[in-house]
Amino acid sequence: MAERENTDPQKMEKIVSLCKSKGFIYQSAELYGGLNGCWDYGPLGTELKRNLKEVWWRKNVQERDDILGMDGSILNHHAVLTASGHVGGFSDPMCDCLLSKARLRADQIDPQTGTAYHYTGASHAESGWSIEKPFSVLIDPTANQDENKARKTAKQYYAQFLSDKQIAPKKLELVGETTTEEVDTTSYNPENGSLLTEPREFNLMFQTKMGASSDANDPNAVAYLRPETAQSIFVQYKNVLDSSRVKLPFGIAQIGKAFRNEINPRNFTFRSREFEQMEIEYFCRPEDGLRLTEEWLETRLSFYEEIGVPRTKLHVLDVPDGERAHYSAKTYDIEYEFPFGIQELEGVAYRGAYDLGKHQDHSGKTLEYFDEETKERFIPHVVEPSAGCDRTVLALICEAYDVEDLTKEGGKKDERTVMRFKPSVAPIKAAILPLLKNKPELVAKAKEVQKLLQPFMNVFYDEAAAIGRRYRRQDEIGTPFCIAIDFETLGEEGPNGEDLSDTVTVRHRDSMEQERISISELLPWLLERIR
Ligand code: GAP
Repeated sequence: MAERENTDPQKMEKIVSLCKSKGFIYQSAELYGGLNGCWDYGPLGTELKRNLKEVWWRKNVQERDDILGMDGSILNHHAVLTASGHVGGFSDPMCDCLLSKARLRADQIDPQTGTAYHYTGASHAESGWSIEKPFSVLIDPTANQDENKARKTAKQYYAQFLSDKQIAPKKLELVGETTTEEVDTTSYNPENGSLLTEPREFNLMFQTKMGASSDANDPNAVAYLRPETAQSIFVQYKNVLDSSRVKLPFGIAQIGKAFRNEINPRNFTFRSREFEQMEIEYFCRPEDGLRLTEEWLETRLSFYEEIGVPRTKLHVLDVPDGERAHYSAKTYDIEYEFPFGIQELEGVAYRGAYDLGKHQDHSGKTLEYFDEETKERFIPHVVEPSAGCDRTVLALICEAYDVEDLTKEGGKKDERTVMRFKPSVAPIKAAILPLLKNKPELVAKAKEVQKLLQPFMNVFYDEAAAIGRRYRRQDEIGTPFCIAIDFETLGEEGPNGEDLSDTVTVRHRDSMEQERISISELLPWLLERIR
């Protein structure tokens, strides 16, 4: 099992670079320097993400009798998010570096130990300039840092207040230097040692104004980009219940965008400001809540295995008391071994009657369920498996990425990059490759095969370069099957004199083995393998 802190930054760098060069994921607005925390999916990334969402929907909605889908609006009513607690409490503690002005998540700063140098101000004798302002710097003597580092940092800090920019920071004199020994402090920026501001709560929601209200302070004109898809499910639960005449237990599933003004977007798409969620709110009788939470955990773990994330790379964190939301009697985090550490993919939370209860209180409308058999009225409890779509795409990419050594004994060095996506999520299912591009009969036959498959799956036609190079290009983007059209396809005898007309060579991405399949059987053969 990997250590929680085990990371492989080099692998992550290669993955990010491959994502860009092959058209999986690009930085949003890269042309203009990038929009921090936002990402655009390129042609292959879009297919991969669509495939993931399709498998999730098929497994959770189409193949189940007890779950219905919905697609709520992205703009959320302020009253919905006030009732849910997001307006008052959806925040992260934030602090600012006094020197660089970088904004940091206070709860993500690693504790540090060292000597803190404190100053009361600085002056410049020649010009008569002086300032009284406390400032501190932490240095780590075990990392060869000494008082000179502290003094240099402090001078840079005070130099920000100089109106005469001709005065170099090193010309300043520091005032009132004292020191203290600090153990496990989180008050200093690990990047430069500068003192941080006290943590403040920062609401993560993006607020906007609806309509053309002339009053800038009209509270009814305020709307939010939803911070999770879940709330529209809770507020539509009664409509779904009444219009679909379902009985408990039943779920409502939704895939869609969510927005959070994250203080520190990081680790590629892992923590973004705009992302997609795949959420289910599963409504049940109170006595079934805990049992169903356990069942959902298993169901969700199997899902990840099915799409190509092995169980050995998944970790289940049973979130301890005190770290769970106060209304949740049980919460599991499903975590994955990303190259940047073990991190959350999905939460499976037993939320009790909290959400429906809050919306009932705030709206003044009953959200009770009437059980026809027992004649009871009650607010259903909820189990919520809430997955991140972009995080799962990232896990699929990290899991698929492999560099295979193909160097033969005594031979020259050879390796191939191969994305070992499960065929169900692979962006391109099959590549159609005529052996030669200057033989019209081969090209015509290959186009025929392309037209045969295109209505059923995403295929790619490629006639440029030697066939071996074309295979490698497909390996790099994870195409599970390459279909070569050669002279035997056109009727030339096979190596043992056999008739191979109207058959093609199918080359398997992972084993690189090849087999001959007749064109008439090709479509069902592929359909069986790409679901
Ligand atoms: N309705 C419950 C809810 O939203 P959450 O743990 O805040 O719970 C659920 O989010 C999932 O959404 C997370 O497990 C993660 O996969 C994804 N997610 C949350 N914040 C994200 C972000 N900033 N960037 C990408 N994915 C995010």
